[in-house]
Amino acid sequence: MSIPTPSHTTPCRICGGAVERFLDLGDQPLSDAFRKPDETDDEFFFRLEVGRCTGCTMTQLLHEVPRERMFHADYPYRSSGSTTMAAHFRAIARRFIAEELTGSDPFIVEIGSNDGVMLRTVAEAGVRHLGVDPSAGVGLTAQEQGVRVRTDFFEERSALEVVADEGRADVIYAANTFCHIPYLDSVLAGARALLGDDGIFVFEDPYIGDILRRRSFDQIYDEHFYFFSATSVGAMAAQHGFELVDVERLDVHGGEVRYTLARPGRRTVTQAVHDLLLEESTSGLDRAEPYESFARAVMAIRDDLRSTLERLRDEGRRVVGYGATAKSATVNNFCGIDRDLVAVVYDTTEEKQGRVTPGQHIPVEDMSGFATDPAPIALLYAWNHAEEIKRKEQAFADRGGRWLTYVPEVRLD
Ligand code: SAH
Ligand code: TYD
Ligand code: ZN
Repeated sequence: MSIPTPSHTTPCRICGGAVERFLDLGDQPLSDAFRKPDETDDEFFFRLEVGRCTGCTMTQLLHEVPRERMFHADYPYRSSGSTTMAAHFRAIARRFIAEELTGSDPFIVEIGSNDGVMLRTVAEAGVRHLGVDPSAGVGLTAQEQGVRVRTDFFEERSALEVVADEGRADVIYAANTFCHIPYLDSVLAGARALLGDDGIFVFEDPYIGDILRRRSFDQIYDEHFYFFSATSVGAMAAQHGFELVDVERLDVHGGEVRYTLARPGRRTVTQAVHDLLLEESTSGLDRAEPYESFARAVMAIRDDLRSTLERLRDEGRRVVGYGATAKSATVNNFCGIDRDLVAVVYDTTEEKQGRVTPGQHIPVEDMSGFATDPAPIALLYAWNHAEEIKRKEQAFADRGGRWLTYVPEVRLD
């Protein structure tokens, strides 16, 4: 079935250049819209196409979903669902406290503070902080842990309000959030106003180099609007009165980079920045070829995953899903995976349980079912947490259970 293609190029949201589409993942629902089984009418769909700017190289979606549709009181994602991630955020909080928040009355602002997974360490240390997050439900959980939250979208307007109320910040931090925001010009204008002269703006997001290498096409969904590289971030920073002064590769969520911006000339640019820029130009991240070969590989994964699941069904082998990730919306809806191929998805998040997955309406159930489910095969949608999950689910392997994964290729372990 071929789907009509609405557009091939759009203007770059960062530099105005031409964004050339390299992959069309079809019509997709909101990745975090887990509805009640009897409330699946009038589901919202949008066209998920991704392209690369031939000017500044920024990889980005071609169509924007209105932010209020994604981030609201019932937004279900909870950052504390992974112990590995909780430890990761504790570590960066401690680093900020030790190295950056050392003045007489330091102040840190987090954009996208979610359930307070990072800021609770800051709060426990008695350091002045503020989380800005539009999703009221996650904010409530954060507040219960002693974290101060402002339920709002971060942009120039709200940043100016924060400066007026609380003064300038030593650190602005955003994990898995900056890449969610199409209007980065406004966010950077806000950061310019909010950040102290020697402050740093640190953000970490999935790295396009790792996505291409690991073929992790499921990182592409409504909330992930941009896919950063040192090259594209460096260009964007310069355009908005910042300098990219440090980068750090992170082994979480399938490969991320933590970028540090500062006002120009205030911090020394580390060797790591030069090294990553060089690596990116050597591997051709500024050319079309790696994106085109990624797209070809993704089509092959789709065909392989679908035929594998159909074969398993025809052999009468039950397959269940593990982890109702946002990423899985792309996989299920792009590959056409419904309840006929994956019977149920198990997930630890209370807010997703008793609901159905976006688009394909596979039931989501709590983990107690996984322990007793006789299914011999689990499709690991939360592959980015494979180590943590496989450690925890040793009993599944002990009874002969096998994990099915699809990046970088379809594998039954
Ligand atoms: N930092 C956490 C949460 C990531 S989920 C982590 O790394 O696990 C993304 C979060 O960003 C959500 O809680 C969402 O509500 C929030 N968000 C989305 N758009 C935002 C914006 N414009 N300003 C602030 N937060 C935003
Ligand atoms: P994650 O991969 O962090 O993000 P995204 O939704 O952005 O793709 O989501 C992990 C999901 O998997 C989340 O719904 C919680 C669930 N999960 C489990 O059910 N068990 C686990 O052990 C872990 C680590 C996650
Ligand atoms: Zn551009």
